[in-house]
Amino acid sequence: METRILNIEGMNLEEKAFAKLILPNGEFLLPTITGTEGENAIDIRDLRKNSGYVTYDPGFGNTASCQSSITYISEDGILRYRGIAIEELAGKATFLEVAYLLLYGKLPSDTELKNFESSILRRMALHEDLKRQFDVYPRDAHPMAILASVVSSLAAFYTDEKIGDPESVYKNATRLIAKFPTIAAYSYKKSIGHPYIYPRQDLNYCENFLHMMFNHPSCSYEIIPEVVEALDLLFILHADHEQNCSTSTARLVRSSQSNIFACITSAICALWGPRHGGANEAVINMLNSIKNEGISPSDFVERVKKKQTRLMGFGHRVYKNYDPRAKIIKDACHRLLKRLNRQDQLLDIALELEEIALNDEYFIERKLYPNVDFYSGIMYQAIGIPTKAFTVMFAIGRLPGWLSQIIEFDSDPDNKIGRPRQIYQGPNKTNYIPILSR
Ligand code: CMC
Repeated sequence: METRILNIEGMNLEEKAFAKLILPNGEFLLPTITGTEGENAIDIRDLRKNSGYVTYDPGFGNTASCQSSITYISEDGILRYRGIAIEELAGKATFLEVAYLLLYGKLPSDTELKNFESSILRRMALHEDLKRQFDVYPRDAHPMAILASVVSSLAAFYTDEKIGDPESVYKNATRLIAKFPTIAAYSYKKSIGHPYIYPRQDLNYCENFLHMMFNHPSCSYEIIPEVVEALDLLFILHADHEQNCSTSTARLVRSSQSNIFACITSAICALWGPRHGGANEAVINMLNSIKNEGISPSDFVERVKKKQTRLMGFGHRVYKNYDPRAKIIKDACHRLLKRLNRQDQLLDIALELEEIALNDEYFIERKLYPNVDFYSGIMYQAIGIPTKAFTVMFAIGRLPGWLSQIIEFDSDPDNKIGRPRQIYQGPNKTNYIPILSR
C-alpha cells in the first residue's frame, strides 16, 4: 500500500506528529496542528485532493473551521478573552473596554479607551430616515426581526466599506456597536407606542441604553448605578464565545466578501433560535409555565428525562462542566434582586431545578450544567427588559465578538469562501416523465 504525505511543505518533520489514515486506496499521513492551549487537530486540507475522501461531521462537533487568537474556552469551564479569564474581566473591566480588547487584541490605554468610548457615543443616534423604518412593523413584531432588518438596512446608509481596508471595516464596526442599543430601544418603544428617545453623549453606553428604553418625555426614569453595572456585566459575559453558531455564520457570510452589515444580520438570525441565543427567552417561558401551571420542579425534570421537553438553559456543546458565565450570572442575579429589593419566584424555581438536575443521573451522565442563559433572563426581567427582547440583549453583548471574528477572518491568509461538501444520498440518474404519463 502506498503511503502519501499530505501538506507538509515547509514543516520540520521531526517535530511534527502525524495521523495515519488507512483507506481502501492507500495510506495517508496527515499533519497535525497544536494550539497554544494544547488542543490537537488533524490538518485535512489536502485530504480530498490526494485521497478522494471527504470528512463527515454533522454539527461540526469535530471540526475546527479556523485558527483564532481571540477567545479560548474549554470543556472544564474555562473562558478567556485574549488570554484574560472571564472572572477577572467580569469584576474589573467595562463592556466597552472588553469590546476594545476583542477588536484590537490588547487592553486599551486610558486615552485609547476614552477615544473609543467617544467614537461610540457620538454615533449612537440613528439617521432620521432609518428611524422611519420602525413605523412599518406591527406592534407585536419580534424585536429580533426588527434588529435583523434595521441592521441590514444600515448597509444602505453606510456604503464606504472596502474589504481589505481595515480602517473602513473598523469604522463600520464602531457604527454597529454604537447603533445596536438604539435599534433595540426603538423596537421596544415602537411596541409600546412611546416616542423614540435620543441618546445622550453625557451618559455612558449602558446608561444610554436604559435611558432610551425607559425614559419618557412626561416621566423621567431614574438610572440606578447597580442596574447599569449589572447590564454591563451581562454584556461582558456574552461578548464572545469562539466559533458558536452565530459567529460561524458571520464568518461564513464574510467568506463570500459580503459587507459587515450583511454578516452581522446573518449572525443575528442565527442567534435567534432557542438552541442558541433564543434560549434565554425560552428559559423564562419555561419557568413561567412551571409557575403558572403549578408543575413541581421535580415533575418537570421527570418530563425532561422522558425527553418530552428539554431543560432550557442547560447543556452546552463545549462545556461539560459548569459554564463559567452561569456561575457569575447566578451571583450577580442574587445581588441585583437584593439591591432592587425583589423576591422572584422564578429564581426560586430555577434554583430548585438546578439542584434537582445536578444531582440526577440523567444530567450527571450527560454532563449537563446550567449555561449562560439559565439565570440571565431573571436579571433582564428585574432590569425591566421585556421577555421578547432578551435575545436582543444577547446580541448587543455578542456584537464585539462577531466583529472581532470577522476582522480576524479578513486578515487570515488562509481565508477562503466557505463551501462545505456533502455526501449525496439521493436517487441515481433517472429520467424526466412528462406530466400526463406519471
Ligand atoms: N435538557 C435535557 N437533555 C439535554 C439537554 C437539555 N437542555 N441538552 C442536551 N441534552 C441531552 C440530549 O437529549 C442528549 O441525550 P441523549 O444522548 O440521550 O440523546 C445529550 O444530552 C446530548 O445532547 P445534544 O443535543 O447532542 O448536545 P449538543 O452539544 O448537540 O447540544 C445544546 C448543545 C446547547 C444545543 C443542548 O444542550 C440544548 O439544546 N440545550 C438547551 C438549549 C440551551 O440552553 N441553549 C443555550 C446554549 S448556551 C448559549 C448559546 O450558545 O447561545
